[in-house]
Amino acid sequence: MTEISTTLSDALVIFGTTGDLAYKQIFPALYGLVRDEGLATPIIGVARQGWSLDQLQARVRDSLQHYGGATDTDALGRLMSQLRYVGGDYNDPATFAALRKELGEAQCPLHYLAIPPSMFGVVAGQLAKSGCAGHGRLIIEKPFGHNAQSARQLDHILEQHFPEEQIFRIDHYLGKEPVQNILYTRFANPLFEPLWNRLYVRSIQITMAENFGVQERGRFYDETGAMRDVVQNHLLQVLANLTMDPPSGDDHQSTRDKRADLLKAVRPLDPAHVVRGQYAGYRAVPGVRPNSTVETFVAVKIAIDNWRWAGVPIYIRAGKALSLTAAEVIVEFKRPPRETFGEHVPNSSSHLRMRIGPDVAVGLGVRVKTQGERMVGHDVELMLNEQPGSELPPYQRLLGDAMRGIRDLFTRQDLVDAQWRIVDPVLDNVTPLHTYECGTWGPDEAAELIGTDGPWHDPKPGKAE
Ligand code: BG6
Repeated sequence: MTEISTTLSDALVIFGTTGDLAYKQIFPALYGLVRDEGLATPIIGVARQGWSLDQLQARVRDSLQHYGGATDTDALGRLMSQLRYVGGDYNDPATFAALRKELGEAQCPLHYLAIPPSMFGVVAGQLAKSGCAGHGRLIIEKPFGHNAQSARQLDHILEQHFPEEQIFRIDHYLGKEPVQNILYTRFANPLFEPLWNRLYVRSIQITMAENFGVQERGRFYDETGAMRDVVQNHLLQVLANLTMDPPSGDDHQSTRDKRADLLKAVRPLDPAHVVRGQYAGYRAVPGVRPNSTVETFVAVKIAIDNWRWAGVPIYIRAGKALSLTAAEVIVEFKRPPRETFGEHVPNSSSHLRMRIGPDVAVGLGVRVKTQGERMVGHDVELMLNEQPGSELPPYQRLLGDAMRGIRDLFTRQDLVDAQWRIVDPVLDNVTPLHTYECGTWGPDEAAELIGTDGPWHDPKPGKAE
């Protein structure tokens, strides 16, 4: 059952409309919403730059050429006609007076803050003072804060101006079909539940690898690093879907409650269980400090302190400029308790593999007998599901849901707090930084971290590549 407020947002306001997020994700999502769902509300771009409407329209066209492929000219025309632009400083009340005018009769605008988190409080305050907030909604993007303390401060600031049920916190991984499929596969098949615990699971690995560097996001990334960029949010959400208890109700709060319970049971990270790396050449990226010690790779060992998972080693690694781009989960089951056939069955023989991207797959690894007289075998993987990619882009789904007031796929402040509590002890320079070459699987120290619980399962190129 989904939680839905009856009001459909009657305007969409995008702060930071000239920025990277709008260009790569929000404009393609808007085009998809206009094309597929007939989104017809005014879309007001706001930014510091004194752009004209023509400039915004050109930017949207350019974005769609690169990231969307606007083949439906009718939908494109409609999107263009819905656009408005307001330029001005976020500290200046005149900017918000102009926005109020542009909003006209709108009562329930959706304000998307695609701006640096340091400006969230300023904009939320100005929206409230100028009467632009109305009964409206607010979307904010991760990272929510910079550490546990600043996340709480941010929340206090926002809650002064917007009630909790009007705040939509985007972690776009929650909008990904294969991330939802982790929950679905687990709880739609009673087959897995008896095995899904410390008695049968030997280890869990989650890998998020990207074969590109930080590109033109040097300045943002150098204040963020891999731990804050993807581990604190995306990968801990994946872990929660993979390891949480079954929800007891059919409403979205039950799922989020179980996710929160799980995250609260994750032990705060121990610096001895963290490996940080930086790819050679990172410091030359524009916007990056020449002596930066920010990590572009991180590998961690995680422990969950509950009955289901006590003693099961869990590893997460994420990095830029690695061998290839793929996100994958591997649940390794335990080996047979003795060697019945005199052959050594490898640790990795029996596993469940869930591929999150770029293609989508669920594979069950088993050992089968090799034809012949001897009782020896080889490993095979039974593909339960295999698709080139997911059809509905996460931003389109999430933006559409926020317009309708559906909160199921947005995260909650108590989950955000629990996630920061896990990573807080190892943020910044608490652990050494190792350099690694581009196109590898990160520093050698990551192999040492996993040790005999490994080796790491390096994802293979997908069908989409
Ligand atoms: C973003 C991170 O949240 O997720 C990026 O800021 C990362 O650094 C991206 O590249 C990965 O998302 P996706 O959907 O492209 O796998």
